[in-house]
Amino acid sequence: MKVKSIAVLGLQWGDEGKGKVIDFLSDQCDAVARFGGGANAGHTIVVNGDKFILKLVPSGILHEGKLCFIGAGVACDPEVLQNEISELEARGISTKGRIFIDFGAHLVLPIHKVSDGFRDAGRGKGAIDTTKRGIGPTYADKSSRVGLRVADIFDGNTLETKIGYVIDTHRNNLGDRGTDESIVNASRLAQNLRSYEPLFREIVSDVGPEILRLLANGKRVLFEGAQGALLDLDYGTYPYVTSSHTTIGGIFIGLGIPPSSLGTAIGVVKAYMTRVGSGPFPTEINGKLADSLREKGREYGSVTGRPRRVGWLDLANLRRVININGTDKLAITKLDVLDELDEIPVCESYEVDGAKVSDVPSNHPDFCKAKPVYSKIKGWKQSTAGMNKIDRLPKNARAYLDYISEKTGVPIWLISTGYSREDTIFVDADPFSS
Ligand code: GDP
Ligand code: IMO
Ligand code: MG
Repeated sequence: MKVKSIAVLGLQWGDEGKGKVIDFLSDQCDAVARFGGGANAGHTIVVNGDKFILKLVPSGILHEGKLCFIGAGVACDPEVLQNEISELEARGISTKGRIFIDFGAHLVLPIHKVSDGFRDAGRGKGAIDTTKRGIGPTYADKSSRVGLRVADIFDGNTLETKIGYVIDTHRNNLGDRGTDESIVNASRLAQNLRSYEPLFREIVSDVGPEILRLLANGKRVLFEGAQGALLDLDYGTYPYVTSSHTTIGGIFIGLGIPPSSLGTAIGVVKAYMTRVGSGPFPTEINGKLADSLREKGREYGSVTGRPRRVGWLDLANLRRVININGTDKLAITKLDVLDELDEIPVCESYEVDGAKVSDVPSNHPDFCKAKPVYSKIKGWKQSTAGMNKIDRLPKNARAYLDYISEKTGVPIWLISTGYSREDTIFVDADPFSS
């Protein structure tokens, strides 16, 4: 039997529009599962003019009755999760019996957030410019085997001791903050975590087996990526990356399911590129043109409000991460943002020390000095905003999309022309057929 699941993964530096694409698809799914990252993610969904920014709750939640899973690979800040659920309820979205979190998901404590800021500031000019949501320190504790997991909340006898391990790991690096009681008092923190016990009792689950059961019963499951491939801990622009696996392997580790449970891998690609935070960005542009794209695309971070850096599409990098993910189909978003341009540069390959290289230089120093080699595609100078039929697209917009598809060897399956659900062109009828 063919597996009815799809993965929706960002192929750039995050913020590709995954939330919008996943919300659009959720209608046709039974469940949506987040496998990695934490509240560093901000997935924006606009429904009838109402804007939702989801950080931990999967983007299927706005569709009545759809199940939402948070896997063991996610770093969960209990306060953020509780607030997000309360906000959804207050806005009329019923979450009861629809959200499930794995026993093994690691917990973000206040000390992780403080430590995140301290460590990053300590890097001086080399700061990563993290979201300060405690992501790096939480995953570091997980690897060092001192982390706290959802299941630990239920064990009143050992909780405080385990929190003590976490505090000991970070306290020495915290300077003055290392004495702040709200951060380093284990008994106070244990009490605070216990206050989340009723929430977790209601939603805790064994996520992997639940998903496998759904798939075995012919249900449709969508695996929701967070961040993007270029932020992957191993395959992104290290060290300017996040601390989780944002590429395809993260799904199986983060949910506890085998590769055979994946049907189709969709890659979400913005029609240009953005990056929030520091790190190399060879196709970055500055000045008036960058400002106007930033304004038109509303390129400000959904989590931190930071202006996003803006640049041209990098096909060389795109080909690399398409191979890593085994991408079957592309979803191209924000086409409308390019509407006014006379011509659109696209990076085809790189030049390093005067030599042309079609593959992306894999070591960091070479990548930092790589110069993009551009092709220029004619603009369409016509509004595509809100278009939802492929045959309405201007000829040159079609040519731009065809060019991306041809140069990557991957068919385009969805085109997004605005932030609302309706502003979407579905090229393929059934996303669950590969
Ligand atoms: P995510 O993290 O990948 O889910 O992306 P974000 O939500 O952080 O950022 C994408 C932004 O672009 C959000 O503000 C969306 O509302 C918006 N957006 C998504 N698709 C489109 C589109 O096709 N056109 C325009 N103009 N905006 C879009
Ligand atoms: P979504 O899911 C864009 C970036 C941060 C920083 C780096 C490390 O909305 O696409 P971290 O806090 O993870 O340690 O920060 O990664 N970053 C994102 N950028 N979108 C995201 O998520 C991001 N999550 C992390 O800006 O450069
Ligand atoms: Mg985002």
